Amino acid sequence: MRIVILENQDAVHQRAADLFCTLLDQRPDATLGLATGGTPLGTYEELVSRFEEGRVSFAECTTFNLDEYLGLPAGHPESYLRFMEHNLFSRANFDSSYCHLPDPHIEDPAEACRLYEQMIDDAGGIDLQLLGIGSDGHIAFNEPGSSLASRTRVKALTQQTREDNARFFDSIDDVPTLAITMGIGTIMEANSILLLAIGSGKAEAVEAFVEGPLTAQVPASALQMHPTVTVLLDPAAASRLKRRSYYEYVENLQLELEQGVSRHPNG
Ligand code: GLP
Repeated sequence: MRIVILENQDAVHQRAADLFCTLLDQRPDATLGLATGGTPLGTYEELVSRFEEGRVSFAECTTFNLDEYLGLPAGHPESYLRFMEHNLFSRANFDSSYCHLPDPHIEDPAEACRLYEQMIDDAGGIDLQLLGIGSDGHIAFNEPGSSLASRTRVKALTQQTREDNARFFDSIDDVPTLAITMGIGTIMEANSILLLAIGSGKAEAVEAFVEGPLTAQVPASALQMHPTVTVLLDPAAASRLKRRSYYEYVENLQLELEQGVSRHPNG
């Protein structure tokens, strides 16, 4: 895992946008895995600004979102489809026919899950998957205890997740109890993964998944088994990391390498 501790949340969003723009520059038809929640909003703002400045185009890319609530009426303002349209898709040149979320309105949710896996496969898999993290260490809606090999399926949300997400609804009673989510196994098949965490509310989850044991009780710890993961943190989210100075040391060497200085992290 490449652990990058940046000076503030703006720097996290700049760096995240850099990674998306570099990929789209090299491969305009790349397949992006996208996330919802408060955390990626600043990254989406930055991508929209860069689009408006003519620095990036999304015209040829395909997108797959991690998850969608089950049980909200079509067009509900807190559905993840509406979230993505409002915060990203409608604000840049995405082709909506290439932007996918699990469909919660198919009569048989198991069929919706199977179709979603098939669509990701047909697109050739995901090149870069963006993730946030829940305060209990969940990724997408893979709650603690989720199989680390799980595929897209229906999950029941924990009380903690419903409380965390209640701020987007009138009351906690309005937060759905179920969602369709990519599985951890699905997420792990992405070519590269970018996880963002901001604020002290994520510090415990970050410590657990970066430095704790690999366990289904901390779903994000599965990322320890992925070869190409970048974790972008602000100082508050990084505040409980024990090996922080080592991560900073390695990151400085890595940046020097990328800038062409002839030194090696192990040299
Ligand atoms: C939800 C989403 C996750 C997201 C998490 C954290 O549970 N399904 O994908 O990472 O919330 O959200 P936030 O970024 O608002 O803290």
